[in-house]
Amino acid sequence: MPDLPNDLAAFWLPFTDNRGFKAEPRLLARARDMHYWTPDGRQILDGTAGLWCVNAGHTRPRIVEAIQAAAAELDFAPTFNLAHPLAFKLASRVAEIAPDGLDHVFFTNSGSEAVDSALKIALAYQRSVGQGSRTRLIGRARAYHGVNFGGVSVGGIVNNRRSFLNLPGVDHLPHTYNHAEQAFSRGEPAWGAHLADALEDLVNLHGAETLAAVIVEPVAGSTGVLAPPKGYLQRLREITRRHGILLIFDEVITGFGRLGAPFAAQALGVTPDMITMAKGLTNGAVPMGAVAVADSVHRAIVDNAAPGIELFHGYTYSGHPLAAAAGLAAIETYAEEGLFARGAELAGYWADAIHGLRDAPHVVDIRTIGLVAGIELAPRADAAGARGKTVFHRCFDDGLLIRVTGDIIALSPPLIISTAQIDEIVGRIRDALGQVG
Ligand SMILES: Cc1ncc(COP(=O)(O)O)c(C=O)c1O
Repeated sequence: MPDLPNDLAAFWLPFTDNRGFKAEPRLLARARDMHYWTPDGRQILDGTAGLWCVNAGHTRPRIVEAIQAAAAELDFAPTFNLAHPLAFKLASRVAEIAPDGLDHVFFTNSGSEAVDSALKIALAYQRSVGQGSRTRLIGRARAYHGVNFGGVSVGGIVNNRRSFLNLPGVDHLPHTYNHAEQAFSRGEPAWGAHLADALEDLVNLHGAETLAAVIVEPVAGSTGVLAPPKGYLQRLREITRRHGILLIFDEVITGFGRLGAPFAAQALGVTPDMITMAKGLTNGAVPMGAVAVADSVHRAIVDNAAPGIELFHGYTYSGHPLAAAAGLAAIETYAEEGLFARGAELAGYWADAIHGLRDAPHVVDIRTIGLVAGIELAPRADAAGARGKTVFHRCFDDGLLIRVTGDIIALSPPLIISTAQIDEIVGRIRDALGQVG
């Protein structure tokens, strides 16, 4: 018998229409490799790696066993003025797969915490190199950087910002999407590198001496899969370097193989000063985030500090033993099974299959890069998001998990997906689009 809850009232679901959900709940009970199962035993093909997390597929035995062993050996160890071996091992392993020079790793428990940690490290760095006037942070429109105050402030999603206090001293670049110039793009769109020059405008407006850091997602995920225009990130790198501004890539969704390399920085050929990560770091199995930090940034903060604590920041669970064990096992799984490269190997098949939906009802744009896709639907008149939500429900009830943000379907399956399963995703979406008004 499935173990069903008898009361849905107490759990307040995050980022959810709670009234709608509780009127018609959809639950997941177990998972294996490419699939979930509902409590009543229906199989659901996972087109989203959970929530961009489970890059090696679900409940992989090596990761499960590593967590079980860690739980039995060392359930918790503080990492304030103490530590344990697994946290060091994982930090070294992350540094190994990160771009050259990003040699130091600060652990958090989530992507949101990784973002706020990176922003604080940027401010600490500027102070430590005698640039204390550089306190301004630059984000971008249509960006998602999690839900903590720093991430919300540099983020560019109106609903996430409107009801909350935003940090002062934050400005935003324009987003990089232009339907007329970029529709139905495969990989990096050819048009739009010049949009990075908006950073020069912000330098002129505020003065470089006030700018601490720029944070961008290499591929914006949560606002509908927006790949960077060819040359855009290179140009941001050049401008930030020239003006002494740190560049942070938020790789919470692009990390761990999504674009066919360990990080998007490598896939796209641009090295930032910091990379934030989470999700795929442990294959989603234990909550954990991290910031990979350039040696120059780390040295400036640590070497210039007065004796004692160099950075007044950290979490009780930074480098938690269970998460560290899961992270090590996840990275070994990715490496041994060639999953860091698989997003690149599958990208052509994936793009051909997904772009085959171009003629499906309601589709107004399709964007693919690596093993990610955004399928944009025309909104219903006066009901933005309603069509997307209906497609989500239709797919789920038909055995496919997709993600929708508004009227955009975002796909990011586990990297172990087969070509037959890619075809299955496309077929089920086509069916759903044919059924919804
Ligand atoms: C780019 C990016 N940054 C940060 C986050 C926040 O991560 P978390 O939900 O683990 O706090 C997300 C989550 O989807 C994300 O996509």
